[in-house]
Amino acid sequence: MIISVINTVLIVAAISGLLALLLVIADLLFANYGEMKITINGKKELVVKGGSSLLGLLNDNKIYLASACGGRGSCGFCKCKVNSGGGPLLPTEKPFLTPQEIEDNIRLSCQIKVKEDIFIEIPENIFNVQKYKAVVTEIKDLTYDIKELTLKLQEPASINFKAGQYVQLESPPYEKSRQSASRAYSISSSPDNQHFIQLIIRLVPAGICTTYIFDYLKSGDEINFTGPFGDFSIRDSQADMLFIAGGSGKAPIKSMVEYLYQHGSKRRMIYMFGARTRKDLYYTELFQDLEKKMVNFTYVPILSQPTEECEWKGKCGYVTPFFPEYIRDPQNTEAYLCGSPGMIAAVIKGLKSNGINEANIFYDSFA
Ligand SMILES: Cc1cc2nc3c(=O)[nH]c(=O)nc-3n(C[C@H](O)[C@H](O)[C@H](O)COP(=O)(O)OP(=O)(O)OC[C@H]3O[C@@H](n4cnc5c(N)ncnc54)[C@H](O)[C@@H]3O)c2cc1C
Ligand code: FES
Repeated sequence: MIISVINTVLIVAAISGLLALLLVIADLLFANYGEMKITINGKKELVVKGGSSLLGLLNDNKIYLASACGGRGSCGFCKCKVNSGGGPLLPTEKPFLTPQEIEDNIRLSCQIKVKEDIFIEIPENIFNVQKYKAVVTEIKDLTYDIKELTLKLQEPASINFKAGQYVQLESPPYEKSRQSASRAYSISSSPDNQHFIQLIIRLVPAGICTTYIFDYLKSGDEINFTGPFGDFSIRDSQADMLFIAGGSGKAPIKSMVEYLYQHGSKRRMIYMFGARTRKDLYYTELFQDLEKKMVNFTYVPILSQPTEECEWKGKCGYVTPFFPEYIRDPQNTEAYLCGSPGMIAAVIKGLKSNGINEANIFYDSFA
């Protein structure tokens, strides 16, 4: 009995899958949607050939929405308001939208296929995002799995961004990926240098973009990126600042601290950097040097798994137990976090239980 139920379920699932596949193939081969109009913010009109994703059609017209996963429907960054013409909300969009966003007609632009005239709203600052051509001037090993990439901008020759923002780097098709890929990387250099940017890239085994950067990209090569994106940036106040990062999450924090140093900030700043072992630490001298130069800056590397051989005399464990030692006035402290979603969730919980107001916690999650 149970076996026959399972068989029926499997057969129905297989037939549904086949029908869905046939529909996709038929759509690709026979559908001709002709010209459609995308109306943006009630004033700008684009005439496009229908049938492609809204995100892709906007990109083709040099309007770049954030899309950290490159349109795969896994980051939830490519949101825009669709007033009409977007078709029904898809199951692939729902996990990324709050009930309020659904009520406000917010959609994921990478999931919408433009099949009729569509009316959308996007923030005005998106029109400042540009596509840049750059040349790699240096690739440096920071640890066994982290590299620093220095890019000299060619066209346009300079970029205006805020410390903490990120760009989307394009890896071209190569041996291990037939398609180009676009991935988000925080700028690690200070916004004061507008002609070069630096990125800190951690290798993701079998990852499309990071494998390209680690195994194929060379000094002198050209690479494209779009940006700047994101609202992870320094708030204009005199509150104490607590920076917390792990792994390549050091990138936007480095940009922020260097910017604050260059602009003579006297704010009290603590930077807690979590790593597993001593070989995961990097830029230690750079931050120890900043400690000497800045009156109110303290750098605290913390190892979660120090080995006996590494002779570590610093702090051990996770960052959260050390909060009481460094948070002086919780009501007057802003926290800036960057790292994996798991690390961010744990740190937010720890900060709140140490009296930090949630409204003063800012973060970028490298999901
Ligand atoms: C706003 C933002 C800023 C970011 N800034 C940085 C940065 O400064 N430096 C940096 O190194 N990365 C950063 N990232 C992560 C980066 O965008 C890519 O996700 C990462 O480099 C993997 O890309 P890939 O093409 O090599 O891997 P993919 O081909 O996308 O992934 C391959 C596989 O690995 C998994 N995977 C993807 N990302 C990770 C990960 N981080 N850890 C473990 N498994 C993963 C995927 O689920 C997939 O199964 C940032 C992400 C966001 C959203
Ligand atoms: S681009 Fe990532 S979800 Fe749309």
